[in-house]
Amino acid sequence: MAHQRTTWLLLLSALLIISVAEASHASNDSNAYAERRLRQILLRSGEYDAKERPVLLSNKPVDVEVSMAMYALISLDEKEQVLKGASWIIMEWYDYRIHWDPEMYGNLRFLSLGMDDIWTPKILLTNTASEKIENPIQESVFRALASWDGNVTLEGPIIHETSCEMKMSHFPFDRQNCSLVISTQNTPKCIVNLANGPATRIVMNEATSQWQALNFTAETTAQEFQYKAYSKVIFYLVVKRLPYHYLLNIALPSAILTFISLGVFWLTPESGERISMAVSLLLGQAVFWLVTAESLPPTGGEGTPLLLDCIEYNFIVGGLAILLSVVTVGLQHQPGPLRGRFRRKLFLQILPLVVCLQSRGRGKVNDDDSRFDEKDEKLKMTSDMVKIVSLSDKDGRVIQKTKGYSNVDVSRNGLDDMKLVAAILDRLFFLVAAIIFTCGNVKLIACLVHGM
Ligand SMILES: *[C@@H]1O[C@H](CO)[C@@H](O)[C@H](O)[C@H]1NC(C)=O
Ligand SMILES: *[C@@H]1O[C@H](CO)[C@@H](O)[C@H](O)[C@H]1NC(C)=O
Ligand SMILES: *[C@@H]1O[C@H](CO)[C@@H](O)[C@H](O)[C@H]1NC(C)=O
Ligand SMILES: *[C@@H]1O[C@H](CO)[C@@H](O)[C@H](O)[C@H]1NC(C)=O
Repeated sequence: MAHQRTTWLLLLSALLIISVAEASHASNDSNAYAERRLRQILLRSGEYDAKERPVLLSNKPVDVEVSMAMYALISLDEKEQVLKGASWIIMEWYDYRIHWDPEMYGNLRFLSLGMDDIWTPKILLTNTASEKIENPIQESVFRALASWDGNVTLEGPIIHETSCEMKMSHFPFDRQNCSLVISTQNTPKCIVNLANGPATRIVMNEATSQWQALNFTAETTAQEFQYKAYSKVIFYLVVKRLPYHYLLNIALPSAILTFISLGVFWLTPESGERISMAVSLLLGQAVFWLVTAESLPPTGGEGTPLLLDCIEYNFIVGGLAILLSVVTVGLQHQPGPLRGRFRRKLFLQILPLVVCLQSRGRGKVNDDDSRFDEKDEKLKMTSDMVKIVSLSDKDGRVIQKTKGYSNVDVSRNGLDDMKLVAAILDRLFFLVAAIIFTCGNVKLIACLVHGM
């Protein structure tokens, strides 16, 4: 009995709760199915035509404000001159037909709408470099948000590939100013008028990117085309390259190789390794040149990139090391004394002082050809001299012998002359190469220090 009563009581109370809930639901009319009712009223077919522009006076354009927030710079390709990035596009306009009293719809102030439900502006990324020309506004990812007072906001993400004219003359210390042009698709300014809202940079993946974003600004202009003006909004992204990758991986090794090339001039010409060393170093340089040139666009009349300039200078130094080594090695093995009073003076007296090379008094010794060292004579006897001696008859022997000795002495001195000349030229060439090397690299270092 008791058991039955509790069951009845439970049933009754359940009924009561249900009826009370029903009553409250019914009584608060403004809350019940507010969104459903709102949608039905706002987008009544026959009442709202999504193709009709939201303007009361048909000679007035719809004013659309376009804003952009860039959150990633995916790549900036120097060779293709294409900027790839990911952004968020926000468009705002006023639609007089979307209007409701939040009080009557349970304080509902915003309504999320699909792009098909209402009128939306058709915009296009004009300077696109993507293979497929398509509206960046994709219906699947864009969503409109209408507010009770008629403001409509359409927003969504886009991945954009746009052409960007890059100026490479300061590479790798370059700054680029890339533009993103958004215009109305086939719709003149008198129908849809674009204006720029703020351009904001939310996040840039600077940790992985070699670019640092400096500025992102927006500008509104109009373009005249076939007697009709089309409004467009241009977003300018200014980025600065972080040069350390290029400095550490290309400029530094190249400079080190060139520096080693300079050492070639300090090797004695007798060591046969001299030219082969210079050639291997030049080959190493060629690798850096190829790698750098490969990653750069073929610039026309805009000045060679700074890094390429520097590598070219280094290459020239490497080439000079070979060429000048050939000259000095050749000179070294050339017989005969240095002829000509001016040349002797220049090479044996002036230049040794200029390049700080001790001439060990040879210059003076060589000025009077008659003097020779008795002890060295026999050691330095050449087959030539022996021939002269053996060919001569008994009468002329002494004369020939002296003449021969004299010749030997002169030629010995001549050989030494050439050695000295080669040493002087080595020093001189080293200085020249070092100057070219410094000139080539100083600009890069200046830019680095200056922090361009
Ligand atoms: C009914 O709606 C009004 C305002 O729309 C609100 O203040 C009130 O709390 C609602 N009542 C219930 C029972 O939800
Ligand atoms: C709608 O736009 C107007 C003008 O831009 C602005 O004053 C108003 O605050 C906006 N309304 C809402 C709910 O944002
Ligand atoms: C980028 O280029 C545009 C147009 O060429 C110019 O108006 C703008 O000032 C430039 N921005 C910077 C930071 O140089
Ligand atoms: C961006 O550029 C504009 C105009 O060139 C300038 O007024 C603004 O200060 C710059 N902003 C930054 C963060 O450099």
